Amino acid sequence: MDNSPSYVLVTGATGFIGAHIVDCLLGRGIRVRGTTRSAAKGASMIAARPQHAGRLDFVQISDFSSPDIDLSGAFAGIDINGVVHVASPFTYDTLDNEKELILPAINGVRAMLAAAAASKTVKRVVLTSSFAAVLDANRKAPLYFTYTGVDWNPLTYEEAADLNTSAVIAYRGSKKFAELAAWDFLRNNPEVGFDLVTLCPPMTFGPVVHPVPSANSLNDSNAMLWRIAEGKEPLPVARVPFWIDVRDLAQAHVEALVRPEAGGKRYIPASPERFSYGLAAEIIRDGFEFARGREVDLTGQVIDQSHGVDGETAARELGLRYRTFRETVVDMVGRVAAMSRG
Ligand SMILES: NC(=O)c1ccc[n+]([C@@H]2O[C@H](COP(=O)([O-])OP(=O)(O)OC[C@H]3O[C@@H](n4cnc5c(N)ncnc54)[C@H](OP(=O)(O)O)[C@@H]3O)[C@@H](O)[C@H]2O)c1
Repeated sequence: MDNSPSYVLVTGATGFIGAHIVDCLLGRGIRVRGTTRSAAKGASMIAARPQHAGRLDFVQISDFSSPDIDLSGAFAGIDINGVVHVASPFTYDTLDNEKELILPAINGVRAMLAAAAASKTVKRVVLTSSFAAVLDANRKAPLYFTYTGVDWNPLTYEEAADLNTSAVIAYRGSKKFAELAAWDFLRNNPEVGFDLVTLCPPMTFGPVVHPVPSANSLNDSNAMLWRIAEGKEPLPVARVPFWIDVRDLAQAHVEALVRPEAGGKRYIPASPERFSYGLAAEIIRDGFEFARGREVDLTGQVIDQSHGVDGETAARELGLRYRTFRETVVDMVGRVAAMSRG
């Protein structure tokens, strides 16, 4: 593709990760159209970025769970030459996992790719998948192993959609089957004028730049850190020890969009440093007056060293330098603390 797309569509642009991608694109002089289900959130994103007036606009779309979802309106009237598809339901607060998590994730991907193909102007699509699509929760290490971009979680659709399955498992299924739908679409429609890059980040933390009315409405991953900052006990136990800073992840998306040689690849952008919520609690205690002197109960906070993740390929091929966990936690907590003070 042209190394510097001039107009990029970002779905999920009002979310935690999407808003950082928007800022990264705007910072490079690339125009952005965001999609959102809420016109008010789109307006608030624009109002918070007066320096980019006229270079950021929003299109309202329907929920991915609605029947006959059609995203062609998002491409209307302009030449969009790149798409970053971030939007997908990310919640564990569900009543029906298949309806609320799995089907909207898959249908959102399909609708976006169909609309991108119909536009005839898109040259590359970058999809935010997840380490959840990679992780095999039953893979135990008698010998050390390293997850790479060729690994897929082994869940079947039936296991993920089973009514008795937890939302955590169903979310893993939603990311796997949505990403597979994207690769299938490209395989079945070789005539489309674009290629695909997928990114499979693990837990993502960092400062918040999207519209959030209060600390109570943080996205799921940051909400975990904020609960710790508030001194809530007991500390949660990390399901995986891998993570990435949201700013590094935003950069990974933009590099995946503009680097021709990234086309067709699947990356796991992930810091080489491991984390636990105990480590986060210690960083918060050391870095913030309001948490000083706090006892940190590290029971259950042993960091799993039995396997690794290959974040190095993404760093090398996308030109990333991962931030430290300390910097990420301090920046995130500092930002939310300031927000809470008003
Ligand atoms: N945060 C993490 O730790 C993490 C790690 C790995 C991968 N990811 C992936 O990164 C992406 C963004 O996550 P995030 O943490 O930024 O979450 P977020 O803040 O909840 O943002 C998700 C965005 O997706 C849109 N969305 C959610 N459900 C939707 C639905 N049913 N129909 C249409 N749009 C919907 C929302 O847009 P509107 O409300 O504006 O319509 C929202 O802006 C997701 O694909 C997630 O799976 C996240």
